[in-house]
Amino acid sequence: MWAEMLGKQLGHPTRTVAGWLVSRYLKAYNRILEESAVQLCGIQPGHTVLELGHGPGLGLQSAAKLLTESTGRLIGVDYSAYMHQTASERLKEFVASGKVTLHHCDIAAMPLADSLVDRVFHCNCYYFWPDLRKGATEIHRVMKPGGVMVTVLRLSSVAAIAAKRVLPAENWRPEAYMTALRDTGFTDVRMEDIQHKHITIQAIYATASKSD
Ligand SMILES: C[S@@+](CC[C@H](N)C(=O)[O-])C[C@H]1O[C@@H](n2cnc3c(N)ncnc32)[C@H](O)[C@@H]1O
Repeated sequence: MWAEMLGKQLGHPTRTVAGWLVSRYLKAYNRILEESAVQLCGIQPGHTVLELGHGPGLGLQSAAKLLTESTGRLIGVDYSAYMHQTASERLKEFVASGKVTLHHCDIAAMPLADSLVDRVFHCNCYYFWPDLRKGATEIHRVMKPGGVMVTVLRLSSVAAIAAKRVLPAENWRPEAYMTALRDTGFTDVRMEDIQHKHITIQAIYATASKSD
């Protein structure tokens, strides 16, 4: 029962004691993943960048600082009202200036135009999508042709919590996610190990291919 409750809060944190504890955990342990994702996705100062399932907003904060040209824009989506509010507070100056826009919505239905985004990044998020192909199709829709997405995870930790039945179903497996990406128009889909001080994390790269 605790595993189910933890899984629910990781996948959709609510403004409860359990959600608050999960939010503290995300801030304490996932900064490395978020900052690595930002670094690996090759953000240019004038890019339009999207983070999926941003949680408390640590990655958004790093990415916003890189978008120094006036055309640079950052978008975040998360369907947890609690995480949307937490990140909105953290990024309030960027939101006020129009540099950052945060949407409280599902990744499977984003209020974004077609072919808008140059770079996408996310950490610890796809495991919770009920339909990987649906999510991947929607991400592909909003990406520019040739846009790059970077997904960062610490596979050993994810496998350990999946073994305790904290995660729903088997969608956490990178192979399932990478197959969904290939099936929905992404190319150059590959996973690499990244050494970060004493820990090894994984980055999954994918390019949004589109015919003109
Ligand atoms: C485990 S938390 C990870 C948060 C942050 N990226 C990190 O690594 O610390 C997963 C986040 O993804 C969000 N999320 C999961 N599925 C989503 C979906 N289908 N649409 C929007 N947000 C989603 C959750 O609300 C939550 O904030």
